[in-house]
Amino acid sequence: MSVEAIRWKDGSLWLIDQRVLPHDEAWVQCTDAQSTAKAIADMVVRGAPAIGITAAYGLALEARAGGDLDLARDVLLASRPTAVNLRWALDELADCPPSDLLDAARQMHADDIAINQSMGAHGASLLPKGAKLYHHCNTGALATGGWGTALGIVRSAWLEDASLHVWVGETRPYLQGARLTAWELEQESIPCTLVADSVAASLMARGEVDAVLVGCDRVAANGDVANKIGTLMLAVLAKRYGVAFYVAMPSSTLDMRCPTGAEIPIEERDASEVQGHRGVTWAANVPVHNPAFDVTPAELITAWVTENGLWTPTESAA
Ligand code: MRU
Repeated sequence: MSVEAIRWKDGSLWLIDQRVLPHDEAWVQCTDAQSTAKAIADMVVRGAPAIGITAAYGLALEARAGGDLDLARDVLLASRPTAVNLRWALDELADCPPSDLLDAARQMHADDIAINQSMGAHGASLLPKGAKLYHHCNTGALATGGWGTALGIVRSAWLEDASLHVWVGETRPYLQGARLTAWELEQESIPCTLVADSVAASLMARGEVDAVLVGCDRVAANGDVANKIGTLMLAVLAKRYGVAFYVAMPSSTLDMRCPTGAEIPIEERDASEVQGHRGVTWAANVPVHNPAFDVTPAELITAWVTENGLWTPTESAA
């Protein structure tokens, strides 16, 4: 089974600290909604489904401590703006009696793994034998309850076809691909090669990619997809070179309240993430624009893969 990001143990929530992976395996303890929201905001845990599940546990922690649940919801909701799973998870628990919140959070966690495995099977059925895949960001077990969304499709496909290969885009500036996806794939000996993001065009031009696989942080009703910065660039390239572009989309990431991608809030992150890395600074004084996500228009997407099969915006909006 794949690596774990979220654990409930001895009355606390424990999150693997993704800021120090893959060099160190450290766990951060959360004891209430405040500490849980801080862990989400500080990137201890990341990935749309994972932060939704984490928020659900955060609410359960607050209930056990007898805290103010309305305030807790607001604090959790404010921790990161783009991934809609955070709001989805809190909405799902809105009518849950406080005494049942922990069981409900655990159930949401378990359901997410089953959803990913189902999405994995649907996605795997789209891929040719010996598929040459390109993956962006981290969408694996660490970014979800377990198994993964786009990386879950890779996992499911690889169980049937060990001859597939994954190009792992490093995903500047936060390096989720280089630090987390590459590590997850290595743990299971799934064949992969790490590339700088700027290599994608030449790979596609040489026919080295059959399909691009990405996850999503929020999908608008018209099918526009907010996902990790760089996703739009890959979708434009895929269109240019006739490469399939698949979005792994659990239903919890579809936001029917958002008509188009233009309404999706995009998180702007700290300049230091672009100016350097882990204490080494190479561009201290230059102004920086550091959006964490971009929006890919629906017209560039070949298919949205959900736990129930393929989704199309027209079908769903009808
Ligand atoms: O900023 P992050 O690391 O939380 O961003 C994660 C992503 O954008 C993932 O690609 C996304 O959540 C896909 S689904 C796991």
